[in-house]
Amino acid sequence: MIGPKPTTAAPATAWHPASWRERAIVQVPAYRDAAAAARVMAELRALPPLVTSWEVEALREQLAAAQEGRAFVLQGGDCAESFRDCNSDAIVTKLKILLQMSVVLVAGLKRPVVRIGRMAGQYAKPRSSDTESRDGTTLPSYRGDLVNRPDFTAAAREPDPELMLRAYERASMTLNFVRALIDGGFADLHHPENWDLDWVTHSAQADEYHRLVQAVADGLDFFEGLTGSSITEARRVEFYTAHEGLHLPYEEAQTRFLAHRQKWYDLTTHFPWIGARTADPDGAHVEFFAGVANPIGVKVGASVTPEQLKRLLARLNPDNQPGRLTLIHRLGAGQIAEGLPKLIDTVRREGARVLWVCDPMHGNTESTANGYKTRRFDKILSELETAVAVHASEASVLGGVHLELTGEHVTECTGGARGLTDEDLARDYRSTVDPRLNYEQAMEVALRIAKLGAPKKSR
Ligand code: PEP
Ligand code: CO
Repeated sequence: MIGPKPTTAAPATAWHPASWRERAIVQVPAYRDAAAAARVMAELRALPPLVTSWEVEALREQLAAAQEGRAFVLQGGDCAESFRDCNSDAIVTKLKILLQMSVVLVAGLKRPVVRIGRMAGQYAKPRSSDTESRDGTTLPSYRGDLVNRPDFTAAAREPDPELMLRAYERASMTLNFVRALIDGGFADLHHPENWDLDWVTHSAQADEYHRLVQAVADGLDFFEGLTGSSITEARRVEFYTAHEGLHLPYEEAQTRFLAHRQKWYDLTTHFPWIGARTADPDGAHVEFFAGVANPIGVKVGASVTPEQLKRLLARLNPDNQPGRLTLIHRLGAGQIAEGLPKLIDTVRREGARVLWVCDPMHGNTESTANGYKTRRFDKILSELETAVAVHASEASVLGGVHLELTGEHVTECTGGARGLTDEDLARDYRSTVDPRLNYEQAMEVALRIAKLGAPKKSR
């Protein structure tokens, strides 16, 4: 080997996987039994990583392509995964809806689609209140299966470090199954019928989708007929995972210094993101993610000031590395027209390179008179449409979308082709956190994006 051998020891720097502990932190409760937490973290450190740096770097390159408009990111899944839903049906259904949507997007946008599931680790949730009160009793809020348990008892709500191990195991089982499905041919583009979910009867989206899939299959046949060779590279699709990097003890325990790259990687997931509530440029979460080499996302809400955004850009991507930083804007249908040009302007003035992704869900959450948390389909579409229009008029690139969705026929968001009303919500409302687009609504969004963002035909 020419040159110095890479050191296996991490250099002593101000940043280290635990340096976040010296910063102000929100949304992460302390463990009462610190010794038990330390034991669990030691065990997690010794277990193999869930993803590899090769995959992480491959994703970063694809995100860099999306940043330039050469690819499009589809990031989606549940608001929160639960341990209970770590089963075959739930995993297959999520994979299917993302694969189906991606075919629609590839066909419409004529660009590769980068598929990223909110999966295999999306187990921790920020909460608007630290406590919950019922009938005069006040307990800590439920913060996701990674942290505590949902039952309304003091024992269940106590943060339990053992749950980090249970989460690691479930994330690894989920990933194992997803990888096996994809490697085993399930995601072969020649057989999109594998991904067909049960449409409800008389669905306009179903007809449109099947026409499109047929066109894709015909295109593959045509090419293969013409060239006499199969499109081997198209046989298998790639699939990446993402979760909110919220519970820093879990992320810290699986962050490793890789001698062959001389960098630290958070190997719980390919693409962690910092949530809107933990994006303080001086806070613990930004400190932690500043030091890992993964591509990372940051949710940017309507309250973020240009000054804060500048600090985030400087802290999280000082070298302006392509694909490193994704800004996931979630401004709300009412605020995006005014707010987004300001964000784009700040990024441009700083000369920063970012991937812009639109989350049209989290700025549009509301409560109905009958007590359901919902999102109106029209507002979701309106935020998306405005995002496309603003990026186009600012000569910027909208490189992807971030959605909360399910392949099931739930009734959590109102509107869509079936015109779900507030009264319909009670019929099949399953989410314990944020309302998701159901199967048809998700496909409708994909079909709409495909039309909105289709490359303009040149004369
Ligand atoms: C989420 O993605 O589920 C979430 C909590 O989003 P945000 O941080 O944008 O509110
Ligand atoms: Co959510």
